[in-house]
Amino acid sequence: MNSSEFIFSLYNGVKMPAPGFGTWRASKGLQAENAVSDALESGYRHIDTAAAYQNEESIGKSIKQSEIPREEIFVTSKLWTTNRGYSKALSAFDETLNRLGLDYLDLYLIHWPANHVTNENWDEINLDTWKALEKLYTDGKVRAIGVSNFMTKHLNSLLKSSIIPMVNQIEYHPGFMQQDVVNLCKENNILVEAWSPLGAGRVLDNPDIKIIADKYGKSAAQICIRWCLQNGVCPLPKSVNKSRIVQNIDVFDFEISGPDMEYINNLSTFGESGHNPDTIVL
Ligand code: A2P
Repeated sequence: MNSSEFIFSLYNGVKMPAPGFGTWRASKGLQAENAVSDALESGYRHIDTAAAYQNEESIGKSIKQSEIPREEIFVTSKLWTTNRGYSKALSAFDETLNRLGLDYLDLYLIHWPANHVTNENWDEINLDTWKALEKLYTDGKVRAIGVSNFMTKHLNSLLKSSIIPMVNQIEYHPGFMQQDVVNLCKENNILVEAWSPLGAGRVLDNPDIKIIADKYGKSAAQICIRWCLQNGVCPLPKSVNKSRIVQNIDVFDFEISGPDMEYINNLSTFGESGHNPDTIVL
């Protein structure tokens, strides 16, 4: 197997390199700048950020400094909850582009759905916000659009839209597969991305994962990342440590066997963040 096998294709034909580089909790300024520079130098060509991470300017700076042609880097950002609704979402997108110093995005996501706790008319709000993303897409300002943290009930109503999401980015790691959401996405050709593919580090000390890691002579993190890829899910591991950044993309010289994939897939629930998109108030 080689890295070219992990270019995912979205249903509109847009290519997404994997793994992507996660930047949640990479603080703006030198920490985010150095992490993204290290990631690009190590071979990542997919950077995932969000307005809420407050590091878009730093990331834009590192992308520019890398001198890698813009079209070779897949850049994602996300719309924060305070900017839900058609007009606010359109303005928030422009602000994100300005902060990144880019003239288009590869992927723009609604970061969290409005839910029944935040809004009585949550469904209407999500649909109104989604219309803004459709407009950005048809205007050519973004190459693909999608959602994040949408559970089946949130996703189901968007499936009636003229353009359905190309991506759903959810929490996904060994011990927390959210199979109902993943199945609905797969049925509709929506690519699933994994935030916290290492369970924000909580999965790495799990004895079952450690045994499998030892068997392949790999780290627990590499097992989690490779497992996502083999399940057809794009992992977005985050690190601000150069040697871990390098390690997390060094996953193309081995393959997890069918029985070991099954074993990990069948682990009981552990390591989840506890953030339930249907009740969280953000
Ligand atoms: P750090 O940034 O100091 O490397 P996730 O992507 O699941 O959210 O996990 C991110 C967390 O896991 C961060 O705390 C990160 O710390 C840590 N981490 C990332 N890569 C590795 C690795 N290869 N080994 C151990 N810890 C890692």
